[in-house]
Amino acid sequence: MSELTIYDASDDVRRLEQTSTPVLIKRLLSEIGVQYDVWGLRDSVTPETADDDILAAYAPEIARLKAEGGYVTGDILRLKPGTADTAPLRAKFLSEHTHGEDEVRFFTEGAAAFYLRSENTIYRMVLNAGDLLSVPALTRHWFDMGPNPGFTTIRLFNNPEGWVAKYTGDPIAERVPYFEG
Ligand SMILES: [Fe+2]
Repeated sequence: MSELTIYDASDDVRRLEQTSTPVLIKRLLSEIGVQYDVWGLRDSVTPETADDDILAAYAPEIARLKAEGGYVTGDILRLKPGTADTAPLRAKFLSEHTHGEDEVRFFTEGAAAFYLRSENTIYRMVLNAGDLLSVPALTRHWFDMGPNPGFTTIRLFNNPEGWVAKYTGDPIAERVPYFEG
């Protein structure tokens, strides 16, 4: 289930609000400049569908988002369920960081959590297949693929070479519940 949980992390981590209502999630995230949308799933897309065919299946949505956000390229990132030794990969994105460009993800399979920070408020967004999230450049965030990851996601870029994580060094991610799904 896609779900947004908001925490106050100013002292100890305290849960403020939780919702799985898409229209409310959309509104709450838009208040910090983060775009959430439900594109839904295409029957033609299965775990065996080739990358180009996934991109083609969502061509209208991708074209719209490219026009809105100035994205020039898109690709598919897959992590097959049951992949061995994913702990180092999970750890790589599990510390707070920023990017010089937007981080745009649309999940066609699987689930994962994005954590977005605005001052001392943390937005923990569990995404499922059918969900789009666009995190603006310079937003403090981290990503948890969970202990048994498996997902397929469309990524859109302004400039793929510019996608570099800049770690803030703040250990705040350790204080907010991990994604165990
Ligand atoms: Fe990131």
